This record gives sequence, C-alpha cells and structure tokens, in this order.
Amino acid sequence: MTASTTATPCTVITIDGPAAAGKGTLARRLAEHYGFAYLDTGLLYRAVGRRLLDRGGDPCDVAAAVEVASSLRPEALEDPTLRSDETASAASQVAVIPDVRQTLLQFQKRFAASPPGGAPGVVIDGRDIGTVVCPHTPYKLFVMASLEERVERRLKELREQGIESIHGRVLQEMKDRDARDSQRDVAPLVKSEDALLIDTTEMAPEMVFSVALDHLSAQGLAPPELRS
Ligand code: DC
Repeated sequence: MTASTTATPCTVITIDGPAAAGKGTLARRLAEHYGFAYLDTGLLYRAVGRRLLDRGGDPCDVAAAVEVASSLRPEALEDPTLRSDETASAASQVAVIPDVRQTLLQFQKRFAASPPGGAPGVVIDGRDIGTVVCPHTPYKLFVMASLEERVERRLKELREQGIESIHGRVLQEMKDRDARDSQRDVAPLVKSEDALLIDTTEMAPEMVFSVALDHLSAQGLAPPELRS
C-alpha cells in the first residue's frame, strides 16, 4: 500500500483506546474542528482481515496476511463490510502479526507526515498511535470506557443497523478482542505516559470533545482561528 511520500511537518493528534470507547466520534469532531485529515487505523487491519476472509483464508496465516497488507489499496478502506463484528475479530487476529504491523506502520507514518489534500494536521486513532506510530507528538489522548458501557454502545450501534444481537455474545467478543489487543507482544494497547486519559463511561460526546479541546489547548495547540 502506498501513500504520498513528500514529508511535510504537520500537527498530529493521536487517540488510542479499546473498541467502542468513543475514539472515532472524538477523532471526527477534532478533525473537523481543526481542519485536519483523519485516519482510522483500525480500518487498515480490518481491510487485511476482510480480504483474507473473502479469499476463504485464515486470518492467522502469516504469509498470506503479510502479502495482503503489502498490496492493500486505499480504496479497500471504503468497503462497508469492514464494520462487521466478523471483520473486527479477523482484524484483531492479523494485528498480532509483527510483519503486518510493520507494513501498515509505514503507511501510517507517511499519512502523518504528509496528509492527503495538504491538510495542516492529522487526527489518527487506533491502539498504538501515541506509543509507536507517532510517539513524538505532544497531542495525545487515551479514551476508555467500562466494558459494560462499551458493550451497550455496540449493541445500540447494531440495533440502529437493524441487527439484533445477543448481549452475551457481544460481551464475549469484546472481551476476546480486548485481551488480544492488550496482551500481544508487538505494540499492545497501552496508554502512553504522556497521553490524557479520558474515561467516557458517563460522559456525553460533547463533554468528551470539550475535555479534549481544553487539553490540546493547554498543550499549546492553537485554536483554528489563530492558526495561519
Ligand atoms: O479500532 P477498530 O475496532 O476498528 O480496530 C480493529 C482491530 O484492529 C483491533 O481489534 C486491533 C487492531 N488495531 C491495532 O492493532 N492497531 C491499531 N492502531 C488499530 C487497530
């Protein structure tokens, strides 16, 4: 997979955290507020997992997963089936493979150095963005919520798509994914020491956005109207 190779210094906001903690909602709002580009890195892992499933392959097949990651095209991130729980599970399986991570890391670093459309900055969310992908930015957030709250949010999301799911099954899938994402050897989900922890369990999205803005401003990120 390729991205533009012209390295331009730009502002990077990182958001890490477990599934359904509120990363995407916050990332989209921040990107819109600052006029930055947004990269949901989970989609990269999901696209690799999806392609393997579509081929009838096994997400644990290292050689096949690396081959798919190396040839992934940006258009693959548009596939609506990437949002399914089956794809999420395959994504978290390919995400434990070091060579897959290394391949996708190059894409993420290029995106951060030179965002599409010449945007002055980027918001990138995932699991290892503040620790591995962009460890040098001062603008880091770590978003979490209780397991029960994340399961409820996921069930609501599925209901809105017309899918009735069993609470126990969603809970188990979330637990399995949390365990795989946090316990893997390479780039596990862990809060960077210098990231602001935001527990969104009892917070409305508006409040999460406001807390994040206050922190980014305290870290020296100028509001959009003051940026040249
Ligand atoms: O954020 P998400 O739920 O779309 O991510 C899907 C899976 O991809 C997640 O279970 C772990 C993996 N992932 C990762 O290992 N590193 C990232 N930066 C983003 C996602």
